Amino acid sequence: MKTYDTKTAMRDHVMALKRNGKSVGCVLTMGFLHAGHMALIRECARHVDEVCVSIFVNPTQFGEKDDLDAYPTDIKGDLTQLKAEGVNAVFLPTPAEMYPEGADTMVDVPGLSGILQGKIRPGHFTGVSTVVTKLFNILQPDVTVFGQKDYQQLAIIRQMVRDLAMPIRVIGLPTVREEDGLAMSSRNVRLTPEDRIAAKVLNAALDRAEVQDARDLSTETLRSLVRETIGKEPRADIRGIDIRDATTLTPFYGPLDRAAVILLSVRFGDILLIDNRIIGPGKDSL
Ligand code: PAF
Repeated sequence: MKTYDTKTAMRDHVMALKRNGKSVGCVLTMGFLHAGHMALIRECARHVDEVCVSIFVNPTQFGEKDDLDAYPTDIKGDLTQLKAEGVNAVFLPTPAEMYPEGADTMVDVPGLSGILQGKIRPGHFTGVSTVVTKLFNILQPDVTVFGQKDYQQLAIIRQMVRDLAMPIRVIGLPTVREEDGLAMSSRNVRLTPEDRIAAKVLNAALDRAEVQDARDLSTETLRSLVRETIGKEPRADIRGIDIRDATTLTPFYGPLDRAAVILLSVRFGDILLIDNRIIGPGKDSL
């Protein structure tokens, strides 16, 4: 497994792979890898000859209040896992390599980026779209895989790839969960033991909504059910329970006549966790 820290060396490596007739996939990460990332890599490997991974904690997607410095890192552990997974190459740039002096251009998908999490974290998704574009330009993947856990991020990347005619197939992988149902996330290790136990209420609430959806309830009733379930957990500080059209993320009212997504944003102590579930007719064909 090769590692590179410059754009030129990384791009040269990918171009050599392509010259040798290999298809290339990429999985973009901010490191501190867990089983959820490995699932993305395995999915990617099903579609391409070689998988390249990037590890970059992107400063432009952190707001002033978000703690960039507190973001957990473990490069040694990450590289051990990636090697065991058979990853072909890893891109590990510095912030200066990604954002050299004078870098000014940002990529924005304004419609999808200004809603939901984008309202809570202004500028976050512009930082994501910008770094993802740069990483795509460097890694030149035929295929990329993102987790459905970051549902809004995935919707934005799909739209950006479509709008900018990027020749990349974007695959969304269903959320990988811990044994008790908590969605895997690098943030989970920052939960207190009590909050870690309490956080399983998110999956429980989504399970309840999914079971109920067959009963032809309105989205308003489903939202109340979810709020009631999470509200029973005193450690959970609800920041958002949204039910949106699963494709456009526009607000969804009335009976569930098409696929919808329930988006949760709940704070446990200092840690904001997100989770989601697609429900309704057509959910399996998304
Ligand atoms: O999902 C993430 O880990 C990040 O937002 C990404 C896509 C690697 C961009 O920094």
